[in-house]
Amino acid sequence: METMKVFARLAADSGEVSMVDAPVPQIGGDEVLVRVGAFGVGLHDRSFIPRGVAFPYTIGTEGAGTVVETGDQVAGVSVGDRVIFTTSLQPQGGAWAEYAAANQHTLIPLPDGLTFAQGAAVPIAGKAALESLNALGLQGGDSLFIAGASGAIGSLVIQLAAAQGIRVAGSASAGNHAHMRALGLEHAADYQQADWPEGVRVWAGGGVSAALAIQPGTGMASQSVVRDGGRLITVSGDSAQIRPERGITVQQISHSHATQIKVAGLVAEIAKGQVQLIIENEYPFAEALDALKKTETRHARGKSVVVLG
Ligand SMILES: NC(=O)c1ccc[n+]([C@@H]2O[C@H](COP(=O)([O-])OP(=O)(O)OC[C@H]3O[C@@H](n4cnc5c(N)ncnc54)[C@H](OP(=O)(O)O)[C@@H]3O)[C@@H](O)[C@H]2O)c1
Repeated sequence: METMKVFARLAADSGEVSMVDAPVPQIGGDEVLVRVGAFGVGLHDRSFIPRGVAFPYTIGTEGAGTVVETGDQVAGVSVGDRVIFTTSLQPQGGAWAEYAAANQHTLIPLPDGLTFAQGAAVPIAGKAALESLNALGLQGGDSLFIAGASGAIGSLVIQLAAAQGIRVAGSASAGNHAHMRALGLEHAADYQQADWPEGVRVWAGGGVSAALAIQPGTGMASQSVVRDGGRLITVSGDSAQIRPERGITVQQISHSHATQIKVAGLVAEIAKGQVQLIIENEYPFAEALDALKKTETRHARGKSVVVLG
């Protein structure tokens, strides 16, 4: 049996992740085997473990690489193709490995002009950004506030919203304000200053049309800057903790398989230079745990990725 290096959760009752040897995955009929060129780092990579799996379990949800084997039901993808893929909650393990199995339906061709690192940075944050915009339901001329706007999701939402003519405000610590403005932000708020909500309300002429709470725990403060009857969308699963007020609709983003086509469109826009992809750092494989720790601080600017040699 061929083996490879992976980063794996060692046990169900411990969050510890370590580099270990594991068998190269056997692919199913509708899967491809990818030689991983890079993988994206997510806040929940350490804890996204499917029920009933054996340990060590290879973690990871997204990556990019070269197809080295195709299952007998796979169509339209060949050995040698460069692809972006996702591996969320796969029983056979994820992308933090030298080789990963990926279902053909998750594949997006990696455009020639993009590196593996750029490809690996898009799927999860890109999907969340697109689903956020969809849920916000805004049009040109509307205003948006994003809580936690300099991270992987916010850096994309700022640009996609501004491109639609939506006026965007967002929060981060002061050191990230110039970064967010360069992406199209009009008003930067420092969440460490107690009076930031008043600044957003004044900027928006009384309140924004809608707010996007990316950081958990930011929902109530985000709602306070929304105008009466506006909309608050949460990204981190904590919408139930928010008491709606002043006729404001509170919802969590919802997932749709249709977003996959839009993510492919986003990849094309990034390849054409129409959307900037912000990568916090490209970590070597041996330093993947440093990348995870950086992401877990919730202070990464853009997306952290790990590149294999
Ligand atoms: N539902 C989904 O499909 C989905 C998908 C992916 C991720 N998520 C969720 O989205 C979140 C990750 O988003 P992300 O990777 O874009 O960003 P992130 O790394 O979690 O957050 C970074 C941003 O949050 C700011 N921030 C840090 N502490 C803050 C605080 N106390 N108050 C307000 N802002 C604060 C940071 O600013 P500074 O660095 O300047 O402090 C930065 O702008 C996670 O909670 C994850 O669960 C959901």
